[in-house]
Order: sequence, then C-alpha cells, then structure tokens
Amino acid sequence: MFAASAPNPSSGPQRLMSRRHGALSAVRPAFRASTSCVVACLSPGVLLAALEPTTGLALWRRSTRAGLHRAIQAALALAPFCEVADGPPDQAARALLRGMPVAMRPLGADIMLLGRLFTTLTGSLTVRLRLEHVTDDACRKHHVDAVGLRLLCTYAGLGTEWIDPDRKPCRMAVFDVGVFKGSKFPDAAPRILHRSPPVEHLPQRRRSRLLLCVDQPGVF
Ligand SMILES: [Fe+2]
Repeated sequence: MFAASAPNPSSGPQRLMSRRHGALSAVRPAFRASTSCVVACLSPGVLLAALEPTTGLALWRRSTRAGLHRAIQAALALAPFCEVADGPPDQAARALLRGMPVAMRPLGADIMLLGRLFTTLTGSLTVRLRLEHVTDDACRKHHVDAVGLRLLCTYAGLGTEWIDPDRKPCRMAVFDVGVFKGSKFPDAAPRILHRSPPVEHLPQRRRSRLLLCVDQPGVF
C-alpha cells in the first residue's frame, strides 16, 4: 500500500514545486515550508505543501460557501449518484454537471477552481472529476490511495476522516480542501491514512454526503 512507483524525472516534485509556486502564490501569499507531514492553513497557497518531500496531506481550511447552499441541497435531493468527467478543469466541470439539475450549476465554478488548483500541483492539463452523493459506508477502512495526488472536498455531510501523525483521528470539515499524497507519488513522505466516514449507523437524514474527488487522469 505504501510502495511508491518509479519517479518520473520529468515531473519530479521539486521541479513541479519550483514551476508552480508562482501560480498558487498568485492566489494567496506563499506558505512556509514545514517539516510536519500534515500542513493546514486558511490560505489555498498551503496546497503547494503537497509537493514537499515531507508532506502527506496539505489541507486548505476554507469557510463555507453560503452561495452554494441551494446547489448542494439540489444534489442531495437526488438519489445517490456518482458522476465522473475527464478533461481540462473547466470543460470537465461543465461535463460533470451537464446531466444534473440546473439548480446544481453554481457548484460548477467551485469545481472548476479546485480542478485548476489541482492542475497547478500536478502539471497536467487535465483532471478526472468525480462528484458523488453517498449515503453508505463507501470506503470505511483506513487506506492510502494508489494515486499520485488526490484532492478531496466534502460539500455536505461528514467529511473525510484521517489519522494524524500522533495517531489521533481527525475529520475534514465541509468545504475543507485536502490534497492527500498517494502511493504513486515519487517521494518517501509519510502517507496519511484516511477513510470515508461510516454513516450507515446514522439516522437516514444524516447519512447523505456530497463529495468531490479530483485525480490526475490515468494515475489511479
Ligand atoms: Fe481514499
């Protein structure tokens, strides 16, 4: 689970770091490099830390977007679903929502933003977006994903749970953006065990989660 694949010399993390620092630091002031394997901050610039050789999880603690409330409720009014779209972030976000109720469209701008931030980290022009309305125990065992980097954001319901370096269980808040380093990322940083929160024991009205997952196409 923790084995890393062979590094790709053309996309080494340090090289990506130097090339992409400008893009994210243009969003907010640059974060300071940290020796912790979990780095959290109120600024999106913290996501750059995901490329550091010591980081397993970079967490952008962001406030709730009240303007998305109706769009999120529209998604939760649907039966559980899993929509997937690949492509450049803007195009993929539009494709993701194309078959969904019009009331969900405001989510598109936020999904585009997160997709663009993710490409800034990966250097890829494309993303694979997965938007899920989950009401069951999707992935309840703690694990490390077989990906390079994975971005997760829970728009509604219980957020992704993870184990911090002191073995303390933690949970992402809604709208937090976490970039987890997977087993295919070419460095030796500690990986952060995480899981979808168990919900099947909860009352029906508290089981629903709306989750966005962003991957690099072909790297999962
Ligand atoms: Fe996972």
